Amino acid sequence: MLKRWSAALVGGLLLVGVLGACGGENAGSAGGGDGKITMGFAQVGAESGWRTANTKSIQDAAAAAGIDLKFSDAQQKQENQIKAIRSYIAQKVDVIAFSPVVESGWDAVLQEAKDAKIPVILTDRAIDSKDTTLYKSFLGSDFVLEGKKAGEWLVKEYQGKTDPVNIVELQGTTGSAPANDRKSGFADVIKADPKFKVIASQTGDFTRAKGKEVMEAFLKANPKIDVLYAHNDDMGLGAIEAIEAAGKKPGVDIKIITVDAVKDGMTALSEGKINYIVECSPLLGPQLMDLAKKVVNGESVPQRILTEETTFTPEQAKAALPSRKY
Ligand code: AHR
Repeated sequence: MLKRWSAALVGGLLLVGVLGACGGENAGSAGGGDGKITMGFAQVGAESGWRTANTKSIQDAAAAAGIDLKFSDAQQKQENQIKAIRSYIAQKVDVIAFSPVVESGWDAVLQEAKDAKIPVILTDRAIDSKDTTLYKSFLGSDFVLEGKKAGEWLVKEYQGKTDPVNIVELQGTTGSAPANDRKSGFADVIKADPKFKVIASQTGDFTRAKGKEVMEAFLKANPKIDVLYAHNDDMGLGAIEAIEAAGKKPGVDIKIITVDAVKDGMTALSEGKINYIVECSPLLGPQLMDLAKKVVNGESVPQRILTEETTFTPEQAKAALPSRKY
């Protein structure tokens, strides 16, 4: 990529500004005239074990693929991601990839990338834009299906029982695709049986601390909670602390379903503190780098690439834990 010194200088200055605001890393200007592909990656944050594993997968895969990675951490704030993307456009990177914090509000900045002829790849989370020409591909999980799998386990677990089942739900970040879709997938499945009642549903921002705080409030307000559905392991793990502090046994007095299957979640599952985990794979790095190479070379790529995932019972967690990478 040919770069003028002035553009590189402006880009460099912008990057310093963005990184100051976002707490990211990776200083330096794009390209470098060495023929390497430069990717600007705008990460959501570092809110969960899943996210940490996802960041590592992306950084390791970029190094292995010989891709020069510009990385920024948006601390779960959309405005930080937008600043980071604008900085990557100013630096004229070859490709931009990002995992959108929330679903809406991306059209303007993605149009700027399109006008600058910089291809964009969505990873992990989708956007709700009607204009699918704003990005080349979306690589990630089917979050609705994950919510359905959680609901299906619950339906099976309470098969043949007639008493009401009081459910509390810890939602992910408000407005994010996984929070919206995991909620709707789960609701779709359990609505067939009126004994299932979601008595409280609130965001825990995908973090352990917030999961604990919100679960404490749920426990105070609701004397009878049968089930906790947490949109990720971290919130479930925070909630376990609150349940234990309230003198109850997680996994027994309150059944717990989570999503992700990171090591800490799988450990709690193997100990019977969580009853079921729906997997969401964070290991998107290698596929993302392959996609980036194709997109930069002008090859056509599928608009949607789904991640392969499974589910875990306590026994399956015990068997999987020794070789679990994250
Ligand atoms: O977008 C994926 C979700 O984001 C993960 O399930 C959650 O742990 C993370 O914060």
